[in-house]
Amino acid sequence: MKQADHASGDSTGAQPANRVAIVTGAARGIGLATARLMLADGTSVVMVDSDGDELSKATSGLNNVLPLNLDISDPEQVSNMVSESLAHFKQIDCLVNNAGIADFGPIEKTSFATWRRVMATNLDGVFLCSQAATGALKETRGCIVNIASISGLRASTLRTAYGTSKAAVIHLTQQQAAELGEFGIRSNCVAPGPVRTKLAMAVHTQDIIDAYHDAIPLNRYGSEEEIAQAIVFLCSDKASYITGQVLAADGGFESTGVGLPSLRL
Ligand SMILES: NC(=O)c1ccc[n+]([C@@H]2O[C@H](COP(=O)([O-])OP(=O)(O)OC[C@H]3O[C@@H](n4cnc5c(N)ncnc54)[C@H](O)[C@@H]3O)[C@@H](O)[C@H]2O)c1
Repeated sequence: MKQADHASGDSTGAQPANRVAIVTGAARGIGLATARLMLADGTSVVMVDSDGDELSKATSGLNNVLPLNLDISDPEQVSNMVSESLAHFKQIDCLVNNAGIADFGPIEKTSFATWRRVMATNLDGVFLCSQAATGALKETRGCIVNIASISGLRASTLRTAYGTSKAAVIHLTQQQAAELGEFGIRSNCVAPGPVRTKLAMAVHTQDIIDAYHDAIPLNRYGSEEEIAQAIVFLCSDKASYITGQVLAADGGFESTGVGLPSLRL
């Protein structure tokens, strides 16, 4: 694991705020929006990402952050992530398992290498980070928020690897809630609808964008900040009696049983 060049703004050493969160995939998109919102609330944030350049750019000038350049699908790097976080901030209150990758393709053309690559980050990463942080979360009676997708709630074409990985994340959330509740640890899931991030724009053609607009009652993509608000709520004490839940932040997509464009008023 490489600790990115630029560490916490406090050169005298760690100055833990009241709460400390680890956010994976924090160099851009939904993860970066979540980190910013948490920082604005006074939470210190360990910002984790495998893209070192983006991470350095994203964390430049931020205070109360610890940037860690690592791959969440690697058990050893994940173990270091937790020890570095504790060495720097002394505690972990929230873990946001946000890092993810997308790859769309038909079943017959999804190679085993692609399947494994998607599972490694989207599912193994959530398992590894959560397991590694559990001891620290027991100390703080902290929480986990896993980021799934509407693709994990509803099946669709071309998402055999991505959709299956996200459905598994939803079930893993429920497993965590069932087993860790007795230690005061809550685990919840946010299932975002489409957001114009680098991940989505790499796999959403204009046809897909138009079809999403038709299928979503609010008739638009969401923003990174709108998803981050749902994540931060589930991390907060306002959600102190909520665990094992999936919150779809999706403009109403999931709730719409028969969302045919021709049935619009
Ligand atoms: N954007 C959408 O439309 C959308 C919809 C539903 C769910 N999601 C989910 O939201 C999460 C964030 O996605 P985003 O749209 O912000 O994507 P993004 O590509 O903008 O950001 C993802 C970040 O994760 C990092 N990352 C990827 N693999 C990693 C690994 N193995 N270790 C460490 N870091 C890694 C990337 O470098 C990147 O900075 C993902 O889990 C994604 O599946 C996104």
